[in-house]
Amino acid sequence: MQSILGIETSCDETGVAIYHPDQGLLAELVYTQADHAAYGGVVPELASRDHIRKLPGMVRQALDQAGLAPSELAGVAYTAGPGLAGALLVGASVAVGLATAARIPAIAVHHMEGHLLSPMLEAQSPDFPFIALLVSGGHTMLVEVTGIGQYRLLGETLDDAAGEAFDKTARLLGLGYPGGPEVARLADQGQVGRFDFPRPMTNRPGLDFSFSGLKTHTRQLIRQCQAEQDESHYPDIAAGFEQAVVDTLVIKCSRALKERRLKRLVIAGGVSANRKLRQALDTALPGQVYYPRPSLCTDNGAMIAHAGWHRLREGLHDGQIAVRPRWPLDELRPPA
Ligand code: KG4
Ligand code: ZN
Repeated sequence: MQSILGIETSCDETGVAIYHPDQGLLAELVYTQADHAAYGGVVPELASRDHIRKLPGMVRQALDQAGLAPSELAGVAYTAGPGLAGALLVGASVAVGLATAARIPAIAVHHMEGHLLSPMLEAQSPDFPFIALLVSGGHTMLVEVTGIGQYRLLGETLDDAAGEAFDKTARLLGLGYPGGPEVARLADQGQVGRFDFPRPMTNRPGLDFSFSGLKTHTRQLIRQCQAEQDESHYPDIAAGFEQAVVDTLVIKCSRALKERRLKRLVIAGGVSANRKLRQALDTALPGQVYYPRPSLCTDNGAMIAHAGWHRLREGLHDGQIAVRPRWPLDELRPPA
C-alpha cells in the first residue's frame, strides 16, 4: 500500500496520476483546457469550471487503470498552491473528499516542489544536493536543494517569468497560447544573429532575472516589422528572442553552480521542455544536467503524486487542508 494519487489543478491543466515508489507511474492523465486559447491567456473562472467537469471522471479512470480501490492508496496528494484560488479549491476538495472517504491522508503539495522533484521520476535521477532552475509560466527561480523540503531561494525574476516572456512574444507575433512551443517552432525556421537582443542582467553579479527589457526590445522589433507590413523577419525575431532567453538562463545556472560549489543542475517547469535550452545546458555543463521527459515538464499530476509520496514518507504533511494562491517556496518547512 504505497501508491499515491496526485491531483494537479493550479492553472489550466487537469492532471491526475498514481505513483508507486517501485513500480513508477501506474496511471497518468492530463487534460489541457482548450478554451483559453481564444483569450490569449488563462481565464480563471473557465479554468475552475473545466476542472470540476473533468476531474472526478479522471480520478475514476486513473484508479481503474492502476487496478486500485481508493482504500488501497497510501494517500491523496493535491496542489495546494501557488495558483488560481478557484482552480486550486476544486483539486483540494476532490482530494480531501476522496481521502476522507477512504480514511487515508490528504497531502498538500507546493506546485513548484512538484516541478522541482520531477526529474527524480526519471531513470537518471539526481542525488541531493543540486541547484534547480524552475522555469514556468508564473515563476523563474534558482533554488539550492539539499533535501526534501529544504529549499533556499538563490534568485528569481524581478518582473516577468521566462514562460510569460515566451507567451507575450507569441501573442505579439500572432501565435497561439501557450506561446513557448509556438515561438520555438517559428524560431526553428529563423536565424539567430539577424537582430541583436539583450541578455538581461548577465553582465552584473547576482542570480536574479529580468525579462521585461527583453520583452520591450522584442515588441519594438515586431512593431517595426508591422509598420513596414513585412512579416518575413518574424522567424528571425523568434530565433533571436529564444536564444537570448536560453543564453541568459545558461549564464545564471553556471554562475549558481559555481557560487554554491555544486555539480548537479536540475531544470523543471514548462520552459524546461525547450529543446534549445536543454541542448545549450548539456553543452555548457556536460553530464551535470537533469530534466524530466517533456510530458512531465508542463503541469501534470505525476509530479504532485511523486512529491506527495516523499512528503508522506518523511512525515512532512501536517493534515491541514488549505489552499494558498500565493506561497513562497522557501516557506516550506524543513524536516524537524
Ligand atoms: O509549468 P507550466 O506548464 O505551467 C506553470 O506552472 O506556469 O509552464 C507553462 C509555461 C508556458 O509559459 C509555456 O509557454 C512554457 O511553459 N513552455 C515553453 C515550452 N513549452 C512550454 N516555453 C518554451 N519552450 C517550450 N518548448
Ligand atoms: Zn507549473
